[in-house]
Amino acid sequence: MFEKEMRNLTYGLFVLSAAADGKSSGCIINTAMQVTDTPLKMAICVNKNSFTGQLIRKSRRFVVSVLDEKADFDIFRHFGFQSGKDVDKFADWKEKAETPDGVPYQTRGANAWIECEVDEEIDLGTHLMYIGFVTNADILSDVPSASYTYYHEHIKPRQEEKKEGRKAWRCIICGYIYEGADLPADFICPWCKHPASDFEPIMI
Ligand SMILES: Cc1cc2nc3c(=O)[nH]c(=O)nc-3n(C[C@H](O)[C@H](O)[C@H](O)COP(=O)(O)O)c2cc1C
Repeated sequence: MFEKEMRNLTYGLFVLSAAADGKSSGCIINTAMQVTDTPLKMAICVNKNSFTGQLIRKSRRFVVSVLDEKADFDIFRHFGFQSGKDVDKFADWKEKAETPDGVPYQTRGANAWIECEVDEEIDLGTHLMYIGFVTNADILSDVPSASYTYYHEHIKPRQEEKKEGRKAWRCIICGYIYEGADLPADFICPWCKHPASDFEPIMI
């Protein structure tokens, strides 16, 4: 419902990270924003299945790395298309630093990091919204921040489309292709976990 209209909203892109009980993870989100100035607070929104979200729930702390226009698709693949439940995303990852509170965060392709302490958790059904006090932050570069539109136009790999062939469906978020004429209404993208409403019909 109203998919086209919703796609006209503007977003940034971020690596959201957290650590608890000796474990850490990070995931790509487009849902981060400043919500108040005094006190300085941010909101983020994370799926209930997200391992990063589960770590935030335990530690009551998270870091947002603001992705910039030099961020490449590897960063999205690493943090956005696999879960910390299956892989330790920060273990052999060289492009990270740690806040004084011990939370790892993405450095390459990011122009700032912002750490927050959770003030409120709001249950939105599929997602949890966390509102946090900004407790620490720093600038990493002066490269402009990447918008969601910039990601679609310049970072996400483009797939050649054929005029004729078999009908399939492509996830507009990450490019995953579902091979089949009929996409089940409850289909969830195995890479980025976005729903069937974020798929567009293509020919392959
Ligand atoms: C462009 C893009 C935007 C995304 N935005 C969100 C988001 O706002 N919230 C969310 O929970 N997941 C979002 N995701 C999906 C998560 O990054 C993905 O499910 C990730 O694998 C979760 O990892 P984790 O289980 O280690 O936390 C997005 C993915 C991509 C590629």
